[in-house]
Amino acid sequence: MALKVFITGASSGIGEALAVYYAAKGATLGLVARRSEFLATLNQRLGGQHACYALDVSDPAAQHAAASDFIARFGAPDIVIANAGVSAGTLTEFEEDLEVFRRIMDTNVFGMAATFAPFIPAMKTAGGERRLVGIASVAGIRGLPGAEAYSASKAAAITYLESLRLEMRPCGIKVVTIAPGYIATPMTAVNPYSMPFLLPAEQAAERFASAIERGLTYTVIPWQMGVVAKLLRLLPNWLYDRLFTNAPRKPRGLPLS
Ligand SMILES: NC(=O)c1ccc[n+]([C@@H]2O[C@H](COP(=O)([O-])OP(=O)(O)OC[C@H]3O[C@@H](n4cnc5c(N)ncnc54)[C@H](OP(=O)(O)O)[C@@H]3O)[C@@H](O)[C@H]2O)c1
Repeated sequence: MALKVFITGASSGIGEALAVYYAAKGATLGLVARRSEFLATLNQRLGGQHACYALDVSDPAAQHAAASDFIARFGAPDIVIANAGVSAGTLTEFEEDLEVFRRIMDTNVFGMAATFAPFIPAMKTAGGERRLVGIASVAGIRGLPGAEAYSASKAAAITYLESLRLEMRPCGIKVVTIAPGYIATPMTAVNPYSMPFLLPAEQAAERFASAIERGLTYTVIPWQMGVVAKLLRLLPNWLYDRLFTNAPRKPRGLPLS
């Protein structure tokens, strides 16, 4: 029986690379993003048999309709990957950044829960080996300067996914948290600074898929960034502040689309 995988943020970057990876393994895919033309082009590239849903992940009614359609056509998914996300620099001292702050939280945190929610009852009923996967970020491990909303959203995602993991444990659905370091995608192409251990999206997708298959509870990819993340956690505030106050920042005012 072919694997059934539902992926949000499939129109570019990591989500697209994951779609290509799982399609090559013979999976049936549900592909979500706002840009329908990108999804249609990807679907054609992958053979045209996949289901495309052009929607905003922060819209729970649209997510419910997409999940219902996917379940009706293919059955409960084996893997749901909440990958859609947005990033831009925000600073609280500028009131005009508050709307950007809200959209980042809506997409990266609420959108993740809205992706999983309509699938959980069917996945519970179906039983077997199933996974809910959340794409967080190392930016959620410590607050980064200039990325107040993004860091907060990814910290919230990591903690949310941990709560969900405990809730899903009795019914056997594994919750996998992936915190990527730097992956080469349109999101990072705008970064005006050097990115250590930058990984091509195709290689990232392979490593993500391996972590998903193993049912890891939490992993940082690439592993070198995992070592950095562990050290960051250990740094006392006085040292962290000294080292990171002038760290390079994501520019403000980036379009979120
Ligand atoms: N690249 C990195 O280094 C890195 C590092 C850590 C974490 N991440 C995380 O990895 C995930 C994927 O990022 P990426 O690097 O692949 O970025 P990307 O190339 O910009 O892709 C983001 C994807 O999310 C979709 N998306 C954004 N807002 C959406 C919304 N409201 N509704 C539906 N889809 C939406 C976009 O599609 P549409 O615009 O068509 O809607 C696009 O397909 C994000 O959660 C990001 O935070 C990335």
